[in-house]
Formats: sequence, C-alpha cells, structure tokens
Amino acid sequence: MALLEARKITKQFGGLTAVNDLDMAIEKGVIASLIGPNGAGKTTFFNMVSGFYKPTAGHMLFAGKEIGGLRPNRVTIHGIGRTFQNIRLFANMTALENVLVGMNCRLKASWVGSLLRPPAVVQEEARARQRGEELLAYVGLGGHGETLGKNLPYGLQRRLEIARSLATDPQLLLLDEPTAGMNPQETVDAMALIKRVRDDLGITILLIEHDMKVVMGISEHITVLDYGTKIAEGTPEQVRANPKVIEAYLGKGAATRVTEKWGTLAPAASAGVGVQGPTLGKEAATDDRLSLSGR
Ligand SMILES: Nc1ncnc2c1ncn2[C@@H]1O[C@H](COP(=O)(O)OP(=O)(O)O)[C@@H](O)[C@H]1O
Ligand SMILES: [Mg+2]
Repeated sequence: MALLEARKITKQFGGLTAVNDLDMAIEKGVIASLIGPNGAGKTTFFNMVSGFYKPTAGHMLFAGKEIGGLRPNRVTIHGIGRTFQNIRLFANMTALENVLVGMNCRLKASWVGSLLRPPAVVQEEARARQRGEELLAYVGLGGHGETLGKNLPYGLQRRLEIARSLATDPQLLLLDEPTAGMNPQETVDAMALIKRVRDDLGITILLIEHDMKVVMGISEHITVLDYGTKIAEGTPEQVRANPKVIEAYLGKGAATRVTEKWGTLAPAASAGVGVQGPTLGKEAATDDRLSLSGR
C-alpha cells in the first residue's frame, strides 16, 4: 500500500481548476518530487494533503485512511509534516520555542496541567526542551536555540522550519521549494539534510522543487504537473526524456528542437533540460515558459 495516495483529486477556485483529477501514489520510504511550471498546482496539491484546502472532489488517503478535508492539526497528528514555500516561522519566538510549537501536538498536558504545573508536566516540558535542542542540533542549528526566528539568516530559517516539522514526529514530510532563495552551497547542504532525514529517520519525503538539477539529483520518483494535470511520472531518467515534460518547460516545439539539435532525447543529451544548456536556453528565450518560475 502506498503511504500517500491521491485518487482523482481535484481543486477548483471558482472557474479555475488548479488541480484536475490527479492520481498520485507515494511509496513509503522514498524521496519523491512534484515538479511543474509556476501555477501548475503543486502548492495547491500540498495544501490539500495538509488540510489547508478541502478537495473539491476525489480522495486523499494516508496509510489507507481518508484524510481529505481534515483540518491541518488533525492531518499533523496523522503523521504529515510540512514546510511552506514562503517561510512561516514565529519571528519573535526563539528557535527553540518555534520547535516546541511543532512538538506541542504530541504533548499530553492539558491546559489545566500547564497552569498548575504538577511534576509530570514539568518533566514532560523538560523532555520536550531536550528533544527540541536535539532537533536543532540535528538540522545544524546547535547553539542557536535562544536566537529569535527573525534574527536567523535565511538559510537557517529554512532549517528551523524543517526542525519544527520534524518536531511533529511525521512519517511523511512535505517540503515546498525548500531551497528557494538559497545560494548553490546552501542548496547542496539543504539537500544533504533532506537526504539524511530520509536515510536516518526513515521519513518519506515529498518535495516541490524548481531547480531541475536538484530534483534530478535527489529524487527517486518524480511527478510532473502542468495546468493542474499530471503529464508525466517516473524515475528522473524517464521524466527528463519525456517530450511532454520538455514541452511543458520550454514551450511547444521544444521537444522537436531538442531532438533536432542533439538527435536524441537520451539522458546524456537532455540532462540539463530546463535549466542548463546555454544554447537551448538562448534558443527558447523568447518562450515565456522557459524558466520554471517564468510563467
Ligand atoms: N487560494 C486560491 N484562490 C484562488 N486561486 C488560487 C488559490 N491558490 C492557488 N490558486 C491558483 O491555482 C493555480 C495553481 O497555483 P499553485 O498551486 O500555487 O501553483 P504552483 O505551486 O505549482 O506554482 C494558480 O493559477 C493559482 O493562481
Ligand atoms: Mg507553489
């Protein structure tokens, strides 16, 4: 059984169909990616998984149970954590406090307990703080526990968001453009962290990523959306050799141009499609869908 399975899931906003009849399955233990041009419906899909949007139609199954339409806090308790395309941290809370907020969904103390503070509650809090410190160290924020969220450099804020979602004890982690705005070194480091989270903690990862090189390097399975519809899926090799994918990123006729230029869509020739390949880039520069964020 897939850990996450979308069955004919649809989200409409008025007349706009942001996600259309999408079937998608994520196996337990994989690092999977969701890619597609800007506005393809990727974040909308995440919002349906994590309970921020109620699907217009279809089913969202997590470990075989329907989660479509549940509230975000219920989805978190089922074991799905997420980070956001635009960082959402508590700016005026410390790094440790931000992590403790994530952990809160798993703590037992009632509000009465938190007021009266019997020994069991005090102990639980101490354990939570220790676990919080461990998580901060794990993501590379050791020693930053007392720094206010807003005072952390951007790359560390992204890490703090990951620590906070790990604090909810997820089985599945949804990462929405985790390397957006990062420099190349920060990107490499962030990817290494994501890989560690899967390898050490066994957490299944689904990420949205616009940097094709990053996606191809880390993913075991890729799903490609365009205008809310799945146009391709498979291994990185299968996806990057798929003419539909090349067209979605580079515009109509691009697949033919690439084929004419290199004679083949074999991985070696198309490895950089959508990002690298200066000649291809120039050729397709007039197309407004050249870059993944260019729509
Ligand atoms: N809350 C919303 N209300 C109306 N339209 C929305 C809303 N959220 C997303 N959309 C629209 O849905 C489409 C898909 O958006 P989104 O999922 O953010 O794309 P992506 O993450 O792939 O760039 C876009 O056309 C966007 O404008
Ligand atoms: Mg998005």
